[in-house]
Amino acid sequence: MDRTLAIMKPDCVQKKLVGKVVDKILENGFNILGLKMIRLSEAQAKAFYDVHEGKPFYDELVDFMTEGPVVVASLEKENAVAAWRELMGATNPTEADEGTLRKLFADNVGRNIVHGSDATETAKREISFFFSETELI
Ligand code: CMP
Repeated sequence: MDRTLAIMKPDCVQKKLVGKVVDKILENGFNILGLKMIRLSEAQAKAFYDVHEGKPFYDELVDFMTEGPVVVASLEKENAVAAWRELMGATNPTEADEGTLRKLFADNVGRNIVHGSDATETAKREISFFFSETELI
């Protein structure tokens, strides 16, 4: 079984969609190993997204991710990274397939409801960014 990190972003929490997204996660056969709501500091958001530092959308991304609480989840499934990315849909909701979370719920490429790790190695780093091993059931 593989693991990935999911983030329900501030727009997901503000729109009261966390329950619907958790339902979709469970309906699609993921195990939830850890789940918590947190408010990212500016330093945490900058560190989490350091790979995007210098890109034109970086400041906007940090502002958005710190504007309200997020819900972070560690998910487990066969091919979890690809499976969660498929359920999320394309980064830009205008390009996302029907039935995906971003097609259903996202406003635009910046406010796109959810995050997912892009590779298994990235997932390890991202899960340990938010969870200690003892928090993963
Ligand atoms: P996420 O999967 O969280 O990883 C990086 C985020 O940067 C991405 O989702 C988008 O929300 C955001 N992003 C990527 N491209 C753009 C863009 N062109 N404009 C604004 N935000 C973007």
